[in-house]
Amino acid sequence: MCGPFRDDLAKQTQYCGMFLTPTLRNVAERKVFFHNGVYHDLKQVMDFYNLRNTAPAKIYPRDPSGKVQKYNDLPPQYHANIDSADAPFDRKFGDQPAMTDQDIQDIIAFMKTLSDGYKE
Ligand code: HEM
Repeated sequence: MCGPFRDDLAKQTQYCGMFLTPTLRNVAERKVFFHNGVYHDLKQVMDFYNLRNTAPAKIYPRDPSGKVQKYNDLPPQYHANIDSADAPFDRKFGDQPAMTDQDIQDIIAFMKTLSDGYKE
């Protein structure tokens, strides 16, 4: 929301680190996911939702000292803007993740029903 492509909210730093929520129509047909294209399939996306807070070492790389680089795609001054209040992000480190493996399989199966055959 605060750049680099959009500049009208650049001074509203409370929005830095927030991204427009994309439509899930035809989501299963995409090859890259999230604003930075970091994931390449829906299981990776669901693991991010489930594990970002509960097991961040499974999501983020480590720096040379071995420290997990949590939220490494956002400058540190904006880390306070990151949503940790809404499920599934309300879980804490070490908590049971919000979704079971079965839940994830079911949600991915649902997302595949959102494909409608549209060709660009
Ligand atoms: C089980 C629940 C959820 C599912 C299945 C889901 C699914 C997805 C998927 C597949 C994407 C990637 C779409 C793409 O890149 O084309 C996405 C992105 C996104 N979702 Fe969710 N989502 C869920 C929960 C949430 C929640 C709780 C929030 C907000 C609190 C949220 C906000 C967003 C936003 C802002 C993006 C764009 C992120 C970015 O571009 O980096 N989603 N979601």
